[in-house]
Amino acid sequence: MKDKVVIVTGGSSGMGKAMAMRFAKDGARVVIAGRDLEKLNNAKEEIEQFDGQVLPIAMDVRDPELIKNMVNEVDQTFGTIDFLVNNAAGNFICAAEDLSVNGWNTVINIVLNGTFYCSSEVGRYMIQHKIKGAITNIIATYAWDAGPGVIHSASAKAGVLAMTRTLAVEWGRKYGIRVNAIAPGPIERTGGAAKLWLSEELENRTIQSVPLGRLGTPEEIAGLCAYLFSNEAGYINGSCFTMDGGQSLHQYPF
Ligand code: HXC
Repeated sequence: MKDKVVIVTGGSSGMGKAMAMRFAKDGARVVIAGRDLEKLNNAKEEIEQFDGQVLPIAMDVRDPELIKNMVNEVDQTFGTIDFLVNNAAGNFICAAEDLSVNGWNTVINIVLNGTFYCSSEVGRYMIQHKIKGAITNIIATYAWDAGPGVIHSASAKAGVLAMTRTLAVEWGRKYGIRVNAIAPGPIERTGGAAKLWLSEELENRTIQSVPLGRLGTPEEIAGLCAYLFSNEAGYINGSCFTMDGGQSLHQYPF
């Protein structure tokens, strides 16, 4: 990652911040993008402890104009963009029959549309500058499974998985840009943990559903993403890596 430029959306907390820290430790110049400038500035201070160069950008992945501005600002500051992590997400638990149209649209706009807006803008930049970069999309195992209580997020993540594979073929063939996905299971200290495991009982049940008997850590996800951006992963394209302690395979109480 030495001197590479990486954009992490949702980079001020949880998994996004852990990824930004890991990339900074590995020598990258890191752009953290998010809605809350104060949170971004706090994260910048933390990440700079590793001597990394950090550029916080206040934006919302739902707004294509702000994404254009972000790409311009990164270009003006660092002169290149090598990697993008589409990590920003929005989620809440709601029974499908109770979900309002606006609730549905809000999550679809953040997760599905936001991932496309960021990928297409950064992708165009990479194509124009002949950069053989890479993109990682953060999804969830319910992209191909079932997401009871989160039909908006499950539907959006399924779309992002299809987007990952489609862009991997289109851009891999023509431009050498690799696009992959990571499907984390339950990860501690994340927005998902705060939003989805609303009680200690729910958290304990979640832990029991994981064969390894624990939650994953944001640092473990960051390590996988760092690997996907490394030269060693140069032949990985259009793949989705599950990192869930085996949770999605755990069907029988043996
Ligand atoms: C029912 C809800 C609701 C809830 C919001 N809505 N929360 N409906 N139950 N708990 C509805 C609102 O009533 C409204 O519809 C519509 O959604 C939009 O709500 P707003 O609050 O106006 O939206 P906004 O301010 O844009 O905030 C977006 C958000 C918010 C998604 C609701 O929570 C957010 O910004 N989240 C970002 C962080 C986040 O969620 N991280 C978790 C990601 S975890 P009406 O009809 O009333 O107008 C993840 C993967 C987990 O994605 C995987 C685990 C394995």
